[in-house]
Formats: sequence, structure tokens, C-alpha cells
Amino acid sequence: MAIAQNCHQWLTLLVCAALLVLQTKANFYPLIFPEKAKAMGAVCLDGSPPAYHFVEGTVENKDNWLIYMEGGAWCESIEECKLRTLEHKGSSKHMMMNPFFPGDYDFGFYGILNRDPAYNPSEFVNWNLVVIRYCDGSSFTGDVEEPVDNLYFRGKRIFNVITDELLNKGLKNAKQVFLTGGSAGAVSVALHCDRFRKLLPNTRRFKCLMDGGYFIHVKKDNPKQVEGFELTFKNVVSLHNSTGMLPQTCTQKMKDKPYLCMFPQYLMDGMKTPMFILMSSYDKHQINISMHESFVAANRTIREHVQLATPIYEGLKGFRLQLLDALPNKPSVGIFINNCFFHTEIATGYWANPNSQVNNVLDSKAISDWYFYGKEVNLIDKSEFIKDCYTNGYYSS
Ligand SMILES: *[C@@H]1O[C@H](CO)[C@@H](O)[C@H](O)[C@H]1NC(C)=O
Ligand SMILES: *[C@@H]1O[C@H](CO)[C@@H](O)[C@H](O)[C@H]1NC(C)=O
Repeated sequence: MAIAQNCHQWLTLLVCAALLVLQTKANFYPLIFPEKAKAMGAVCLDGSPPAYHFVEGTVENKDNWLIYMEGGAWCESIEECKLRTLEHKGSSKHMMMNPFFPGDYDFGFYGILNRDPAYNPSEFVNWNLVVIRYCDGSSFTGDVEEPVDNLYFRGKRIFNVITDELLNKGLKNAKQVFLTGGSAGAVSVALHCDRFRKLLPNTRRFKCLMDGGYFIHVKKDNPKQVEGFELTFKNVVSLHNSTGMLPQTCTQKMKDKPYLCMFPQYLMDGMKTPMFILMSSYDKHQINISMHESFVAANRTIREHVQLATPIYEGLKGFRLQLLDALPNKPSVGIFINNCFFHTEIATGYWANPNSQVNNVLDSKAISDWYFYGKEVNLIDKSEFIKDCYTNGYYSS
């Protein structure tokens, strides 16, 4: 109905027809604001209430929960956090209504979040589904009592108020839980996996997955080429007063540099809950942050189908080896590393997509084997070619 009302002219009609096609592929579900958010002072950066989406599973899956933590980098200064209050990453007021479908919101439920088995051929398709929206800029670690410049750093309280409400919604009876997240949301999963698990002592199977968030602490032997996340994490932990929310097993070791515990690689040792790491060795976001010039060059290579300059390719290959080096060596950790030049896959069209598979195994298959059947998974694309997983093309120098 809304479509018909909005499409007055031919041009608009065309656009709307295209949107309709897109809309049928993704679903939208309303936002839920936790009841106790205000009372607990759990608020987004701008002081608005935090939010999540909930979709009820089928009757036979009433005790199975798929939880997804939204990503969206971090804000590391007052200025950056202020800018975030103008969008959904810092304010639920901007978790926008869809103009064509009033009552629907901006988050696209793709990949493993899609309820249509045609797009999500996995066991999780009919589970209870929760998407925890991200509006604190600190991967749910911020803990500052008083607002600063009208900004609220309350990631910790948001985590607490949402998990509390979910427990009362039936999560406390869960038999199987899969806690997942992409990008900064994957870092949130790494930080909170054990804490979340402790809330559910009776859950038979509780496992975590991080998608596109295994950002590594790069070795600075080539300072011109390689920067990284260290300064970002240092600033975030200081601005948001995050140290208390970082896993102690890690902060004890890091002493005066607790912010290093935002790096998943330093969390793995002390982590008790089984974790699955899904990552590209050429993750677009990691390459952009750590090797910006190479990122620009690789983008051009893929767009224009030209060869990469040899020094750039050598640098990227070196980076790939650093990533492989930083992976944990623990049988309970599932590992799936492809060479796709992209960023995250489970909540995108790359989920269960042959173009992103490793050794002819789909991500969905590897995850299912690991999650349900306890199979050890250690799948790493042995080739070093950079892959354009959209066209399935390979690039080297
Ligand atoms: C920072 O966090 C600690 C807990 O880790 C808390 O005791 C302290 O009050 C917080 N500081 C501010 C300024 O809110
Ligand atoms: C790459 O990083 C720069 C900052 O260094 C940022 O402005 C830009 O949006 C990023 N591009 C992508 C595609 O992520």
C-alpha cells in the first residue's frame, strides 16, 4: 500500500519497482526499546534509549536463539562521538523509519539474519532472532557516570539492560545460543562472549562467532605502510572509561596497556567459550585502516581489472601472513579464512555463497559442522591471490 501511495510519477514508479524487488529479499522488523533503559541510565551517545530487534522463532525452535551484535567502528573523540549522534550509530532517533514502509526500520536482515531459506539455507533460519543495535561507539564497554558535553558513554549499561530484558523474554530457558556479530560487532562478541555465557549457566550449547572483526595488532616493522587499530583502541578505552569491561584474564597481562585487550588475538587465550573466527585475510576494513594506499590500489585493481603493482601486492601478501600468524591455535576455536576483498559476510549476500567458500566448503556448512557437531574447523585459503568475491575473479601482480 505504502508503495502505491508514494509512487506518483513514472520515474518514481521505476525506482519504487526496483525497491520493491530489493524489499522482497530483505525483511524489516520493528525496534524494541528496553523498558528499564531510562531507569538504569542505559542510553545511546545522545541520551536516547538503546534498541534491539526481536523475531520469534518457530515453535520447535522456541529455546534456540541467534543473537547478532551490530557493527559500525568506534568513536574515539568528543568530536567523532558528536557526529555519531546525528546518525543511527549514536542515536536511536536516527534508526530511521523506512519511508516506503512506515513502521519498518533501517536495518537490513540479510544472510544468516534472513528468515527466507532461499537466502539463508542454514539451521538458524527459524530460530529466535535478536539484533542488538549499536549506538554507544565503544563495543558496549563505555562506563562514564556523568555526561560529558551532553554525550553519554554508557555501553556497559546498554549491554546489561538488553541482556536483562532478553533473559526475561525467555532467553533464560535457552537450550542453544549462538552469539554473533560483524566488524565492531564482532569485537563486541569477543569482548562479551564469556560474560554472556555466564548469564546462561543452564544453556546446553552456547557458542560465539566473530565475522570480519579479527583486527590484528600489526607489527610496526614497516611504519610507512602499516598502521592499525592501536591508537583507536587506546583513545576509545580512555574516552569511554572502558577498562572495567575488558576481560580481566587479558588486562592482568597487559598491565599499563589495557586497551590492547580490544584486540581479539589477546583475548583468545583466556576465553573459555568456543569461538568461531570468520575473516578474510584481505579484509577491506582492516586493509583500509592498516594500509590505506594499498587499499586504494587494490580497489582500483578490482574495479578496472588491472594488475596490482608488485610492491603493493608484496605488502598485502605480507599482511596476510601477519593475520595468519595472529590466529589462535586452540582446537575449540573454529577458523574460516578466505581471501575475499570484502568486509564481513554472514549478514550479507556472501553468506552461504560459493564465491566466499574455502577449499570448496561454504561458510554456512563449516559453521554448522562446528556449532552442531563439534567438528574441528581450520579452513584457510592456501592461495595468496586476492579474490574479488563478487565476480569470483582472482588478482595478483
Ligand atoms: C570508570 O569506571 C570505573 C569502573 O571500572 C568506575 O569505578 C569509575 O567511577 C568510572 N569513572 C567515571 C568517571 O565514571
Ligand atoms: C577508508 O578509510 C578512510 C580513512 O582513512 C575513510 O575515510 C574511508 O571512508 C574508508 N573507506 C572505506 C571504503 O571504508
